[in-house]
Amino acid sequence: MATINDNYLKLKAGYLFPEIARRVKAFTESNPEGAAKLIRCGIGDVTEPLPEACRQAMHDAVDELGDSSTFRGYGPEQGYDFLRDAIVENQYAGLGISADEVFVSDGSKCDTGNILDIFGKGNKIAITDPVYPVYVDTNVMVGNTGEADESGAYEGLVYLPCTAENNFVPTIPEEDVDLVYLCYPNNPTGATATRQQLEEWVAYAKERNAIILYDAAYEAFVQDESVPKSIYEIEGAKDCAIEFRSFSKNGGFTGVRCAYTVVPKSVTGTDGKGEKHPLHPLWSRRHSTKFNGASYPVQRGAAAVFSPEGKAQVGALIKGYMENAALLRETCEKLGLPVYGGENAPYVWVGCPDGIDSWGMFDRMLEKANVVITPGSGFGAAGEGYFRISAFNSRENVEEVCRRITENLG
Ligand code: MLT
Repeated sequence: MATINDNYLKLKAGYLFPEIARRVKAFTESNPEGAAKLIRCGIGDVTEPLPEACRQAMHDAVDELGDSSTFRGYGPEQGYDFLRDAIVENQYAGLGISADEVFVSDGSKCDTGNILDIFGKGNKIAITDPVYPVYVDTNVMVGNTGEADESGAYEGLVYLPCTAENNFVPTIPEEDVDLVYLCYPNNPTGATATRQQLEEWVAYAKERNAIILYDAAYEAFVQDESVPKSIYEIEGAKDCAIEFRSFSKNGGFTGVRCAYTVVPKSVTGTDGKGEKHPLHPLWSRRHSTKFNGASYPVQRGAAAVFSPEGKAQVGALIKGYMENAALLRETCEKLGLPVYGGENAPYVWVGCPDGIDSWGMFDRMLEKANVVITPGSGFGAAGEGYFRISAFNSRENVEEVCRRITENLG
């Protein structure tokens, strides 16, 4: 008799984005007219073509694989040196990160979930609320929580509310936690954390022997120079933080798949006997055993993000998405709605008009405006009363979305 992982039975409904996709499918099947006009600003998926520099590098890599003198088979599981070196040179210059502390993978979503493989059972987990649902669900899957209550909150998790009052950056908890997930620029609120706030978190983690799992997937969208892009800009973070980054949102690799995780050699965890061990060899071992590396053409494409042409092309993509975010912000502000984010992140976080809850807003936007947004409550109880608009779209679509928002909410 094969038993199952009972923890999966604790998971609430569908994962947010498949659930949205299910509702959208039901709507489009019964409303062909609405379906034809539908604009998707729900999931943060890029829409613009891959940078030319990346495409060229991938073409060249495929050609190399087609020639017996340059053919390659399995690559290093942790990533090719050309990419790890380029990441350190371009993303971590002066921050004391070495190339062998960078682990290339096929996505940050996978890495933020898989990282739990190297941690023990019974860790106390802190997450922000609202939060990227992957952090919660993966902790449920490995048994780090009890059951969910009616509000969807899981027993055993420490929820750190992020509200307009605290500028969507959580207050340091009084209690001890072992792992804390922070994501800045934030998904879903688009908020950023200041240097001082991150310093406080690093000080907390060091004092309590906690580890910060820092998701920096949206760092490329930071416009304000005073906002830290990496947790390693904070002194001491190399002793207590793991950072996740991605090529999905800057290079437009959501379909191509390439990301990386930085595990400094100085970050340690404690074994059952109370002895400290560096996490770096554990993650390296996990990578070698369960992963065979991101594909060679993809890693060549990712490295091209850092070429002079690649930088210019990625810069243009980001500029375009941020201009979209500014248009969305302006439209919602003109309607008198509370508007957050969208200035250093591709997400605009908007308070629902009076009397409408998050899913009510989702339905209204879908049915009346034929625009898909993401209901704030899908990211956690503290997201209730908000909705998220993704700025990842063509300018034409964003202008149309702005028109439809004004028409339907004005
Ligand atoms: C989101 O919309 O929150 C993200 O695109 C999801 C993801 O990156 O996996």
